[in-house]
Amino acid sequence: MAKALEGVRILDFTHVQSGPTCTQLLAWLGADVIKVEKTGSGDITREQLRDIPGVDSLYFTMLNHNKRSLTLDTKSARGKAVLERLVKHCDVLVENFAPGALDRMGFTWERIQELNPRMIVASVKGFGPGPYEDYKVYENVAQCAGGSASTTGFDDGPPLVTAAQIGDSGTGLHLALGIVAALYQRKSTGRGQRVLAAMQDGVLNLCRVKLRDQQRLARTGVMQEYPQYPHTKFGSAVPRAGNASGGGQPGWILKCKGWEKDPNAYLYFIAQAPVWKEICKAIGKEAWITDPHYATPDARLPRLMEVFAEVERWTLTKTKFEAMAELNKHDIPCGPILSMEELAAEPSLRATGTVVEIDHPTRGKYLSVGNPIKMSDSPTEVRRSPLLGEHSDEVLKEIGFDESEIRALRNEKVI
Ligand code: COA
Repeated sequence: MAKALEGVRILDFTHVQSGPTCTQLLAWLGADVIKVEKTGSGDITREQLRDIPGVDSLYFTMLNHNKRSLTLDTKSARGKAVLERLVKHCDVLVENFAPGALDRMGFTWERIQELNPRMIVASVKGFGPGPYEDYKVYENVAQCAGGSASTTGFDDGPPLVTAAQIGDSGTGLHLALGIVAALYQRKSTGRGQRVLAAMQDGVLNLCRVKLRDQQRLARTGVMQEYPQYPHTKFGSAVPRAGNASGGGQPGWILKCKGWEKDPNAYLYFIAQAPVWKEICKAIGKEAWITDPHYATPDARLPRLMEVFAEVERWTLTKTKFEAMAELNKHDIPCGPILSMEELAAEPSLRATGTVVEIDHPTRGKYLSVGNPIKMSDSPTEVRRSPLLGEHSDEVLKEIGFDESEIRALRNEKVI
């Protein structure tokens, strides 16, 4: 079956995590992604966090599926000539170099437009234009600079980073959307354009509910659904809210049966207003249905911790799965805390291709997260990541080099 982005050629100049997540998504949607890597060493993640000596790391393999790899020394004159042909051959150039690196290589926006006016040039940078635009950035820097760390964690502890890679993978996702939109716009304009996704902006976008709260706090001086209320005085900035929900329905993480030994025997419970009666019945607190101190969402706000403690008395009698099944009988939303071990073994995730087993020539079998976007007319087959330079000859032939020219490039260590 044809794929949504079939026929789109991506010149993939990305490395580490943020850019590769973007181009992997595009590859899963059917684009031909040609990953250009440094001759001899390749993407630095090939050797980072290795679990098998001499074998591409899981870090690399899980971010570079369905791509082709071409090695190229883009700082040499002959390498630049190859790159020029690739710019003419492709539709999109994606890069996440440190600021200015592409210009220093000689591939400014103006030069790329001369070579191929239809080319879309898409970049991840740490910061957008402004005082920090020249700075290099990694995941946790973006989480800190984008507002996530200051609003994550408990009130009495330090700022916390989150395991979800919202700075890298989150920004890669934003960039992929920008690229697809630019390809769509090119249909009518015939022109390429620049697409920029800054990691600080991407994280702030994902934290927009906290900017919402900042303004509520400035206006009212209090946020009644936060665990600080009504006992602690609020400061001028949005505080860390522990496990409180970011939305309009209060929630908290509660212990379940076995929590003493199992660090993940917990359940996220949501005191959703429309099912309050069902909640009261499920936990055996029918009196709360009519008690004016508990009957309405506003009345419950100063007592949320008391409500959660009472629900926890009930969840402690059940495993997280028993509690989930019981609450869902009454349409009460809740979330068991699933470990990576549990997710890796979950048959329904294997069945949908969200978790896939891949075979790799030097690593053998490993698990990866497949394409989280499911499309009925563009199904995803996850193919293993390329070995370093595996497709150099193939790609060079496609752009017009013959065997002897390729040999010369190899002898000169350009590829
Ligand atoms: N051939 C020759 N040289 C190459 C090359 C190739 N195929 N590919 C890259 N290079 C060169 C670059 O031109 C650059 O040279 P220069 O500094 O002399 O101009 C050099 O390699 C280093 O590239 P750079 O991107 O600066 O890597 P770094 O290891 O110093 O920094 C980051 C890594 C991630 C901090 C930086 O790339 C960055 O801030 N990127 C933007 C934000 C981002 O995506 N961060 C998240 C990463 S998960």
